[in-house]
Amino acid sequence: MTGPEGVEIVGVGTAVPDGVVTNTDLEKVMDTSDEWIRQRTGIEQRYRIKADQGESVKHLAKDAVIRALDAANMDAAELDLIVLSTMSSEMTCPPTACRLAAEIGTKNAGAFDLSAACCGFVFGLNTAYGLMQTGQYRNVALIGADTLTNIVEYSTKGRNGAILFGDAAGAVILRKTSDTGKGLIAQAMHSDGARWADLSIPQTKFDLPEGVEFDEWQLGKLYMNGQSVFKFAVGTFPRVIEQTLDRAGMTAGDVDHFICHQSNRRILEAARDRFGLAEEKFHINIDRFANTVAASIPLVLNDLVSARSVKPGQRVMFVGFGGGLTWGTSLWQL
Ligand code: ACO
Repeated sequence: MTGPEGVEIVGVGTAVPDGVVTNTDLEKVMDTSDEWIRQRTGIEQRYRIKADQGESVKHLAKDAVIRALDAANMDAAELDLIVLSTMSSEMTCPPTACRLAAEIGTKNAGAFDLSAACCGFVFGLNTAYGLMQTGQYRNVALIGADTLTNIVEYSTKGRNGAILFGDAAGAVILRKTSDTGKGLIAQAMHSDGARWADLSIPQTKFDLPEGVEFDEWQLGKLYMNGQSVFKFAVGTFPRVIEQTLDRAGMTAGDVDHFICHQSNRRILEAARDRFGLAEEKFHINIDRFANTVAASIPLVLNDLVSARSVKPGQRVMFVGFGGGLTWGTSLWQL
C-alpha cells in the first residue's frame, strides 16, 4: 500500500468496424426514412461488424485498448487490471476480457467483464477508481465496447432497435499519480430493476415483458419500449447531474465538459437546455456513430482529445443511463 495518490486518464483509443450502414441503407430493408431517423434521433449512420466473418466485440475492444496504450506510452505488460464494460460478451464464459488480456500480452493481469448496459463505461470508471484506491492496482485499462447490431432485427418489426444502435469500442488507460488533485471528485450509481421490462433481450418466452405477445423472432433480440425509456431519460439525466453537482459542492458552470451517453439527440438537447450549456461543453456525436451503448462515452472523449479540447486541470462529468434500468455519473478532475 502507498499513501494517498491521485488517478489520471493517460490514454484514450477507439475502434469502429469498416462497415457503415446509412439511414438510406436501412430504408431498403424496413419501413423507415432517412428524414424520420434524423428528426427523431439525430443519427445519420452507424457502424456494423461482420459477425458472419467472425468479427466480434473482442476485435473492437482489442484495437481500442492497443490505441489507448499507445497514447499512454504504456506496454500491455504494465497493466494490472482490465475491465471490459459490455453487454455483448462473446460467450457467457470465459469473460471476453480474459481472452483480450491474453491477446494483447498482459502478464496475468486481472480481467473481467462488467455488465451495466449503457451505464457500463460510467460504472466501470467508478469501479476501476475504487479498486485503484485500495492501493492494489496502478495501471488499469477500462474498455467500453458493444456490438448490438448482432441482436437487433433488421426489418420493420424490429426497427426501433435497428435504427438506433451501432457497434464500437472505446478505451481509457488509468494510472496512479503522485498528484492527489487528479481523479474522481464525485459519482452516482443507481438502478430501478422494477423497470427492467423497458429494455431486455429475452432468451425464453418467459422473459418477455407482461402483455407482449410471444413471437419466435423476439428470442435473443433486443426488446425496447422506446417511448418509456425516452421519458425516463429526459427526466433522469438532469436529476443525476444535479445530484452529482450537489455531492461535489459545484454548479454546472464549474464543469468544463459534460460527456453523456449518446442515446438520442433530443434527449441530450433537452438536458443541455435544462442547464443552459453551450455546445462546446455538452457534446453530441450520435450523428456519426448512433447509440454504441458502453462505447458511446469514450467515443466522445476521443473526439475531444483529438481536437485538443480537453486539457489537464479541467473537470469532466461522464453521464450514463440505460437497460436495468440504470443511471449514473462520474465527475473527474483531469
Ligand atoms: N421509422 C419510421 N417511422 C417510425 C419508426 C421508424 N424507425 N419507428 C416508429 N415510427 C413511427 C411509429 O409507427 C409512430 O407512427 P404513428 O404516430 O403513425 O403511430 C411514430 O413513428 C412515432 O413512434 P414512436 O415509437 O412514438 O417514436 P419515438 O419518437 O418515441 O422514437 C425511438 C422512437 C427513436 C426509439 C425513441 O423512443 C427513443 O430514442 N427512445 C429512447 C431509446 C434509448 O435511449 N435507449 C437507450 C438505452 S439503450 C441501452 O441501455 C442498451
